[in-house]
Amino acid sequence: DDVVTRMKNIDLIEMGRFQVRPWYFSPYPEELTKGPILYICEFCLKYQPTKTAFLRHKDKCGLRHPPGNEIYRKDTLSVFEIDGRKHRNYAQNLCLLAKLFLDHKTLYYDTDPFLFYIMCEIDDRGSHLVGYFSKVCAQTSADCLFQFVSEPSSNLSLSLVPIPSAGKESSEDYNVACILTLPQYQRKGYGRLLIEFSYELSKIEAKVGSPEKPLSDLGLLSYRSYWSFAILETLRNYQGSMAIADLSAYTCIKREDVLSTLQHLNLIKYYKGQYVIVIPVEMAEAHDKQAAKLKVRIDDQCIIWQPID
Ligand code: COA
Ligand code: NA
Repeated sequence: DDVVTRMKNIDLIEMGRFQVRPWYFSPYPEELTKGPILYICEFCLKYQPTKTAFLRHKDKCGLRHPPGNEIYRKDTLSVFEIDGRKHRNYAQNLCLLAKLFLDHKTLYYDTDPFLFYIMCEIDDRGSHLVGYFSKVCAQTSADCLFQFVSEPSSNLSLSLVPIPSAGKESSEDYNVACILTLPQYQRKGYGRLLIEFSYELSKIEAKVGSPEKPLSDLGLLSYRSYWSFAILETLRNYQGSMAIADLSAYTCIKREDVLSTLQHLNLIKYYKGQYVIVIPVEMAEAHDKQAAKLKVRIDDQCIIWQPID
C-alpha cells in the first residue's frame, strides 16, 4: 500500500557528531523535509530544518541525557526507561527517528501503551543515544491496542485501525515490540546488549518473552545469534539433563524460539528412541572462544528496576 511504497523523504540527518543517510520513509512534517539535511537533537530528539534553527534549539535545550529513569549504569553504558504516556514528545520523536531505519508498514504513533528502553553511551558531553527497544506496558490490555496507519495525503494525520492479531500471539508474550541500533553505532554489539537487556527484564518479571513478529533480516540475525549464545552458554554451564522447558525457563527465551534455535544449529538428534541435544566439540569450543571475546555484557546486578503493575 501507499505507506510501504512511499519514497524515502529525507536524504541526510545530522545528529550529534554524525551525519547519517536514512534507509526508509518516515512521516516527519513535510515542510521540514525540503532541505538537504534534517537536524535532530541527539538528546531530546527534536528535529529542525536548518542548522540555524538547530543551533538556536541547542542553546535552549538543557538535556544531556534522555528523560525518564536511569535503570542501568555500568561503566559507560546506561539505560533509561521512558513511559510513553509521561514523555509523549520524546517517544513520538523517537518513533519518527526509528522509522527512518525500519521497513515496517506501520509504526505505533500512539506511544502511550509503550515503555521505551533507551541505551546510551556516556562521555563528558552527555549520554548519547545508541539504540533502544520498546515494549508494551504490562497494564495495557491487548484489546486497547491500536495500530495507526499514516494517511498518504497528509503528514501525521493518522487513522485508527484495531490490531487484527489481538488474541493470536498474546501481547503478553512479547518482551520487545521494536528494536533499533542507530546506524552510526551498528555492528559493535549494541544490538546484542539491547536483546540481552530485554531478557534480563523478563527474568526479573519471571516471564518468558519473545520479540514481536515479523522480524527484519537484521533483527532475525541478531536474535539468532543471541539465542544461540544464551542456549549454548546455559547448556555449557549446566550439569545433568535439561528439558526444553528448563532451557526456556532458565533463559526466559520462549519455548518456540529455543526449539527453532536448536533446530537451526542442528543440535537435536534422535538417539536410542528419544530426542537429545548433542553439541559437537567444535561448536562448544567456538562458543567458549566467543564468550571469552565478549567485552561488554549486561550485569544484572546493575539493573535497578521493578515491573510496573
Ligand atoms: N550483516 C551481517 N550480520 C549482522 C549485521 C549485518 N549487517 N548486523 C548485525 N549482524 C549480526 C552480528 O554479526 C552479530 O552476530 P554475531 O555476534 O554472531 O557476530 C549480531 O547480528 C548482533 O550484532 P550487533 O552488533 O549486536 O547488532 P547491531 O547493534 O548492529 O543491531 C539491529 C542489530 C537488528 C538492532 C540493527 O541492525 C538495526 O537496528 N536494524 C534496523 C532496525 C531493525 O531491523 N530492527 C529489528 C526489527 S524490529
Ligand atoms: Na513495531
